[in-house]
Amino acid sequence: MREALKVLDVVEKKTGVKFERRFGHIGGEAYDKFQTPLPDETKRLCEESDAVLLGSVGGKKWDPLPPKLRPEIGGLLALRKFLKLYANLRPIKVYRSLISISPLDNRILENGVDMVTVRELSSGVYYGQPRGLDSDKGFDTVVYERKTVEKIAETAFELARKRRKKVTSVDKANVLYSSMLWCRVVEEVSKDYPDVILEHMYIDNATMQLILNPSQFDVVLTTNMFGDILSDESAALAGSLGMLPSASLGEKHLYEPAGGSAPDIAGKNIANPIAQILSLAMMLEHSFSMGEIAGKIEQAVETVIEEGYRTRDIAGPSDRVLSTSQMGDIICEKLAALL
Ligand code: IPM
Ligand code: MN
Repeated sequence: MREALKVLDVVEKKTGVKFERRFGHIGGEAYDKFQTPLPDETKRLCEESDAVLLGSVGGKKWDPLPPKLRPEIGGLLALRKFLKLYANLRPIKVYRSLISISPLDNRILENGVDMVTVRELSSGVYYGQPRGLDSDKGFDTVVYERKTVEKIAETAFELARKRRKKVTSVDKANVLYSSMLWCRVVEEVSKDYPDVILEHMYIDNATMQLILNPSQFDVVLTTNMFGDILSDESAALAGSLGMLPSASLGEKHLYEPAGGSAPDIAGKNIANPIAQILSLAMMLEHSFSMGEIAGKIEQAVETVIEEGYRTRDIAGPSDRVLSTSQMGDIICEKLAALL
């Protein structure tokens, strides 16, 4: 977050646009201070703001807490619900110079990968009722309602129109009733978008296709759970979870890196700040109509990567490894030159 805010400083300096910044607590550190992972004060701050830029939550320390007090469920999922976030866009590009660090046969990535997972964010197994846990039984429920699927499908088709005009809808309609409805509704919505190609793919096949032939994907439209999984897989193609930003659309939008808080490396100044920085770029584009500036931030990140600057997670054996703050500095430098 510190690096992303440095990037925002550069944007402010170069454009003269000032962003009023307010800071709220969430997750484990909010729990430690206020005994709740999502304090009312944080909700109020979010409500009063034009956009929310989020860091990551979670850590071993808070795993023993009852589910509703954990950073993930009581913090992040509660905030997503509070802000009525329904679509989570997770774009990924595989930069050319990172192909070599992939464990995949490099020929698979050479055709280019440029895709967006459109993950439904308000429903599915994450929120379905009833759910419960005792010592003998744990259970969850998957529910998808027509209007929810219509809304997320429209989001995906609209996005595809601005891209390569292809939507792959991923479900498990050979088994799950909720997926059968999903599939039917997506098919109906697609009638309004005759210029966009729609294909359906089962989740098991999709996880395999993403490894075998990732270039085939443009917009991947899918449920909350499947989107969680597929988007991590897409990040692995790009070299690291630290490369995957996201925008969550709702009444008010929220922007967060798709990875977790990486508690094993917390405080060491070695995490990759790119996902957070690209999330900031998505914020400028979607919430502040600053698409051109967002494009420059992406360009700065791409230049830095192509010139060989690396944090530890994306470094090859002979690369010089930068710290989080050094990576932030070099991106700021490139951006300043571009603006
Ligand atoms: C993500 C994360 C979250 C999710 C967790 C931390 C609750 O994995 O944003 O992908 O599952 O949505
Ligand atoms: Mn996830």
